[in-house]
Amino acid sequence: MKRIFSGVQPTGNLHLGNYLGAIRNWVTLQESFECIFCIVDLHAITLPQDPEELRANTREVTAAYLAAGIDAERCVIFNQSAVPGHSELAWLFACLTPLGWLNRMTQFKEKAGKKRDIAGLGLYAYPVLMASDILLYKASHVPVGEDQKQHLEFCRDIAGAFNRQFGVDYFPLPEPQIFGEAARVMSLRDGTAKMSKSDPSDYSRINMTDDAATIRTKIRKARTDPDPLPGTAEGLEGRPEAANLIGIYGALAGISAEDALVKFEGAMFSAFKDELADLAVSVLGPIGENMKRIAKDPGYVEGVLHRGAERANEIAQRHLAEIHDIIGLLDA
Ligand code: TYM
Repeated sequence: MKRIFSGVQPTGNLHLGNYLGAIRNWVTLQESFECIFCIVDLHAITLPQDPEELRANTREVTAAYLAAGIDAERCVIFNQSAVPGHSELAWLFACLTPLGWLNRMTQFKEKAGKKRDIAGLGLYAYPVLMASDILLYKASHVPVGEDQKQHLEFCRDIAGAFNRQFGVDYFPLPEPQIFGEAARVMSLRDGTAKMSKSDPSDYSRINMTDDAATIRTKIRKARTDPDPLPGTAEGLEGRPEAANLIGIYGALAGISAEDALVKFEGAMFSAFKDELADLAVSVLGPIGENMKRIAKDPGYVEGVLHRGAERANEIAQRHLAEIHDIIGLLDA
């Protein structure tokens, strides 16, 4: 069976990286896979969140899925906390996770920084919860941006460890689907740092809800170097900002970075940026407008989440009963 699971954290500032690296690909994949798309609120609370903002951000991510073209009839869309099975499976997996595996995870090191001793257990155990998200539905494929690669390797390790420990072939080893030019969109202010929701500078990212004027200003102000654009990929070496903008152009236009370079060989950044801004506005403008329209109807958004949670729960309960049986937990 081909089943997709993927998710986005409701932590605000949904940006071009989330769109190009993940959500946009899901829209295509829903044609050929059974899809489950989650708003992972339990992951969001691994760092402190304001309760009102968390609720608003959960609705906003749902609106982004719908506005980008994910079909709520065909796909299951829900928020993680509405399906208790995620937390339960995370515990069952925690019991077979060696600490050494968690110690290797780079995200914890980045997020906890030097404050390791006061960082939360939830932040440390984050990859266990993520593995549970995917395996609760026995998903075979997981479309994500490149930054999630290590978490997916961890998920495959957990699936293998469970199967080995209990001598079963129960969990599939899910395949990551990491696509194309925009698997890692970089900051507009620093071509060596990932575009991120948590960057304090709003000029580092294009938000999915930015209006046309804001998108244009951010692209115009994006950091570049003084040289004209090269015609080949080798010419981008040591020019991370140029490489990033070319990658974004290619992803938005649906062409390869090589083809984008052929188109813009010799161009100055000012001319290239005007074309990039036009393209970004034409792609993101309607989605942002749609998001705002959908967000005005919280009843509709919550209806989608409610129906999605019911459908997700059904699958989760069926699998959890099987998992209990394999582990030897008595369902009396
Ligand atoms: P999150 O919320 O950070 O990001 C959501 C999706 O956007 C992708 N992404 C990017 N892609 C390209 N360039 C970027 N700069 C960029 N920034 C983010 C991410 O790779 C992701 O696909 N741990 C996950 C959420 C999660 C999940 C899951 C994903 C929880 N459980 C199960 C898949 C399956 C996260 O924090 O994503």
